[in-house]
Amino acid sequence: MALRKIITLPDARLRLKCAPVPAIDASIRALMDDMLETMYAAPGIGLAAIQIAVPKRVLVLDVAKREDENSAPSPLCIVNPEILWTSEELSTYQEGCLSIPDFFEDVERPARVRARYLDHHGRAQEIEAEGILATCLQHEIDHLNGILFIDHLSRLKRDRITRKFAKTAKHGGPSRKSGASKEDAAAGPGA
Ligand code: NI
Repeated sequence: MALRKIITLPDARLRLKCAPVPAIDASIRALMDDMLETMYAAPGIGLAAIQIAVPKRVLVLDVAKREDENSAPSPLCIVNPEILWTSEELSTYQEGCLSIPDFFEDVERPARVRARYLDHHGRAQEIEAEGILATCLQHEIDHLNGILFIDHLSRLKRDRITRKFAKTAKHGGPSRKSGASKEDAAAGPGA
């Protein structure tokens, strides 16, 4: 396993539509292991392959610690996900994204979602998610289609954050504070 570098706004690769995975082989399993390690280290609760510059329809999630700090890890590896159903009922969570560091905003999405996908072993699975898992799953599937959570915000807010990241990149890359602050952790890990 290896830690991979997470790409951030305004990297144009974040806007790519990612390609389906034809078969889950050793290289895809190694990719998922690296993604989990990178996600936990960040720390985050979800990561799409494109966030480490691999344009494939692969994502990993683990919302267990977000729901209960003492819970054991509960990783999900998801390949070629397809949303089958979303509830009309909506819910709002404050979202963040490892590719848009230190920025958090409320996003409204369907409260429940059903999806099918292939797991770590290439087996077909179906999941019905609610709560933070439903939000995280939709956020990650958006990444596979080049969509970021800021696309769900008002144009004013989206333009403001896009400009901020473009400006930071121009001035020699992000000047991150030493690690994520306590405040950011309280605002919720990125995905
Ligand atoms: Ni994200």
